[in-house]
Amino acid sequence: MQYTVKVSERVHWIGANDRRTHLFENIWPLPEGVSYNSYLICDEKTVLLDTIDASAGGDFIKTVVDTLAGKTLDYLIINHMELDHASEISKIISLYPEVKVIGNKFTAKPLQSYFPEVMANFMTIQEGDMLDLGHHKLKFYITPMLHWPETMMTYDQTEGILFSGDAFGSFGALRGSVMDTNTLLEFFEDEMRRYYSNIVGKFSAQASKAISRLASEIEIKTICSLHGPVWQKYAAQVLELYSRWSNYQAEDGVVICYASMYGNTGKMADYLAYKLSEGGIKDIIIHDVSKTHPSFIISDMWKYKGVMLGSVAYNGDMFPVMHTLCEEIKHLGLKNRKLGLFGSYSWNGGGVRNLNKFAEAIGWEQVGTPSEIHGIVNKNKYEQCDELAQAMIDAIC
Ligand code: FEO
Repeated sequence: MQYTVKVSERVHWIGANDRRTHLFENIWPLPEGVSYNSYLICDEKTVLLDTIDASAGGDFIKTVVDTLAGKTLDYLIINHMELDHASEISKIISLYPEVKVIGNKFTAKPLQSYFPEVMANFMTIQEGDMLDLGHHKLKFYITPMLHWPETMMTYDQTEGILFSGDAFGSFGALRGSVMDTNTLLEFFEDEMRRYYSNIVGKFSAQASKAISRLASEIEIKTICSLHGPVWQKYAAQVLELYSRWSNYQAEDGVVICYASMYGNTGKMADYLAYKLSEGGIKDIIIHDVSKTHPSFIISDMWKYKGVMLGSVAYNGDMFPVMHTLCEEIKHLGLKNRKLGLFGSYSWNGGGVRNLNKFAEAIGWEQVGTPSEIHGIVNKNKYEQCDELAQAMIDAIC
């Protein structure tokens, strides 16, 4: 049996840390792993809230059985149907054929398509419906697009616990402590923002609406997300962070991203950073887009107000990896950033020209005049970066 951790007297965390998978959803790097969290409430009635990813499943089912200690499982609540949480559903049904599987009307379609054998057990709830377990009284909130259409959250009125699905979840396997009591917020804040910006950020309008509605209607003492720590000590801070991110609020600071073949555009990035620093901007992050995965860059862009994009020209266009980054930014729909552009070229340009097209498409406020240098970049040519750097300083400070 895997160990379990008590969130409270009757509420158990049953999860798994995955440090083996390289790419979450086969796209997002997991340098520090990820956790999949499931929760079991052992009350007069028993309920399992979501399952975990089968690839990390191991002895998950046995742990559920052992923690139930001879009781049957009365309910399985599906807050989220994505397979990193739903893939053990069938095994639960085969062990507990009488279990009622709870979801909303949007859960039925993916449930039918992935686990048709479960439909006979399926029970639909609506927004505001209650489930009385004895001591614990659960209330359901439908929160579409956080992060799939069927997503919902379950709130335990008795102890103020919000079972939040992906919301407030984080990349990064747990580092010993499941509860946040003995956890440093800093690491998980960065990985929670990377999770938010890349997985949920596209649906920020829905996230903002859901978070403000929940915060005004219920007292949230503990947040049990499907990834990362259980938030209790930092619950208020985590709610505040989500509110900020979902409203595109950002901190003073600039993210400089450059694509460079022979180092000239890279030199411009360094010079711009130097001038920004001279102008009083303290938080400056520089990324070589050929080296850093877009998920980390986008997470930083979600944090800071200023973005400077620089690209070498490549066959009359911007550099392919910069193009990929720009497409991802457009896809996620990040809003309200200040944008500066720069680049270098050897033939007839194309890097900055196409970055300008991106600027028009994304609709961010462009600062200064794009700085574009022909041929080698040296101290005689840096001058034209000065005006651009000053414009960014004026926009941020
Ligand atoms: Fe953690 Fe949307 O799955």
